[in-house]
Amino acid sequence: MCKRVLSGMRPTGRLHLGHYFGILCNWVKLQHDYECYYMSADWHALTTDYADTSKINENTLEIIADWIVAGINPEKSILFKQSEILQHSELFLILSMITPLGWLQRCPTYKKQINEIKNKNLNNYGFLGYPVLQSADILLYKADIIPIGEDQLSHLELARKITKRFNNFYGTNFTEPREIFTKTPRIMGLDGRKMSKSYNNSIFLGESSDTLKYKVKNMFTDPLKIKKTDPGHFKNCVVFEFHKIFDKYYKNKQNKCEVGIIDCTKCKNQLIEMLIEFMRPLTDKRKRLISDKAYLEKVLKTGRKKATETANKTMEEIHKILKF
Ligand code: TRP
Repeated sequence: MCKRVLSGMRPTGRLHLGHYFGILCNWVKLQHDYECYYMSADWHALTTDYADTSKINENTLEIIADWIVAGINPEKSILFKQSEILQHSELFLILSMITPLGWLQRCPTYKKQINEIKNKNLNNYGFLGYPVLQSADILLYKADIIPIGEDQLSHLELARKITKRFNNFYGTNFTEPREIFTKTPRIMGLDGRKMSKSYNNSIFLGESSDTLKYKVKNMFTDPLKIKKTDPGHFKNCVVFEFHKIFDKYYKNKQNKCEVGIIDCTKCKNQLIEMLIEFMRPLTDKRKRLISDKAYLEKVLKTGRKKATETANKTMEEIHKILKF
């Protein structure tokens, strides 16, 4: 049987270059060789955003549009909305019976977010169970390969442990899923921290040329390089980090900067050109797609049908295994 790929993202707003280089470029590659399921994890969004659900649906359409903009082909991959496939919730319930509480309480992302996120009350049962729902997503499609960002690793480790425990209890042989990361799992934001919407340091997919210019002009460079002839220290330079991504000859630029034959303004202008060239087709495509709600809904409808078929098959099998 063809190996399956499954991944998802919470529909929490526009996607940026961190998503693109950290996750989506793998999604795009995998669709040529595998049966790929990509879902908008709206129930996962609900675990933290339960108090205000008004944006979740709209965000799902936006995220589907952004995936297509990034190169996901809805004719090849199955794009769907988690909450439209009710079997996720049934399998979540079943897996929650065999998941020890301690595994969830010790999960590093859980502990970190409980400590860091202060503007939402995360003392809810659903948030603790977040990785169990994620395990259900994976097992429901018997997915082998899970292309994710680094921040999801501890959830994937739990998914493996839960699958193993299921296999031990019921004598089954479900595959333990394997994560894959891109070459550039961590993209720096405009301010040198990790690119993240909540830090307000992102370059979004489909950004206009003017905004790109503005954002690059305001990027930090090495504070010790003031004049062109000052030797640059590229380790402290955000602009250099972007050159590394967009220019395979970035080492030439590194040399020029270090020996003092290029200044920061010129270097920024070169980056602006590359960024605009990279972004232009995405921006055009995004403009067309984002207003075509009917098309996006059609994509989801097709995805729903296909995902339901696979989910039904797995649940039938699980009912038999559990003697229900
Ligand atoms: N938790 C993931 C995130 O926030 C989204 C997600 C939900 C997911 N279910 C999944 C990713 C299953 C991979 C596999 O990014």
